[in-house]
Amino acid sequence: MNYTVVLPAAGSGKRMKANKNKLLLELFDKPIFLYTLEVFQQDPACEAIWLAVKEEERQIIDQYVTKYKITKVHGYADGGMERQDSVRACLEAIPPCGVVLVHDAARPFISQDVITRLVETAKACGAAIAAVPVKDTIKKADNGIITETVDRNALWMVQTPQAFTYDLILKAAKAAVEDGFLGTDEAMLVERLNHPVQIVESTYENVKMTTPEDLIYGKAILESQIQ
Ligand code: CTP
Ligand code: MG
Repeated sequence: MNYTVVLPAAGSGKRMKANKNKLLLELFDKPIFLYTLEVFQQDPACEAIWLAVKEEERQIIDQYVTKYKITKVHGYADGGMERQDSVRACLEAIPPCGVVLVHDAARPFISQDVITRLVETAKACGAAIAAVPVKDTIKKADNGIITETVDRNALWMVQTPQAFTYDLILKAAKAAVEDGFLGTDEAMLVERLNHPVQIVESTYENVKMTTPEDLIYGKAILESQIQ
């Protein structure tokens, strides 16, 4: 089953504290976002890649796309203030298609197997997201005092990719903007339409490069892959 992937790449990387878009930081020999692009370039089921980028970074990103022969990049959309705005700009730019994957450009270690299962599940149920079981004990607190220990068996740490049928995610994105709703992932936009969203179990390696120590983990993952 073929799909189009939308990659929000227009963030600032504030938590990385690198004073620039963290996606341009290098892991060994190339910037983070290129690892992400190469996964989709190599997947025969991926028909097209669309990126949301900041206007001032479009040229540098496009130069890397050319240099690394990422021929599946079909276009760019202008990133917005919030991640959700960046994703919506891409969704409005892409031609209608069957399944759309939304994936953070900052998650370079997504596995091919998870992508395939997400696409199949989205095709069957409309909406599917990657997630892993919570590892730690989770507690709620009020002013530092525990109010509840949550049953972690029911808890998932949500990742991207998140996969949807084109019509559903476009409808959900439009409804969110009309209602002034800001979510932290695309699934929330679909959940509020009361459409079921299926979890597809992913891997702990699919970490988002967010804070400086994630780069150490990222390099370790890459080293383990070449051994
Ligand atoms: N993103 C985007 N547009 C925004 C904000 C984020 O396209 N307005 C993208 C980022 O480039 C990243 C993904 O969304 O690939 C996930 O966001 P996050 O990890 O929060 O990245 P940043 O927003 O760049 O980081 P921070 O929140 O630490 O500033
Ligand atoms: Mg952010």
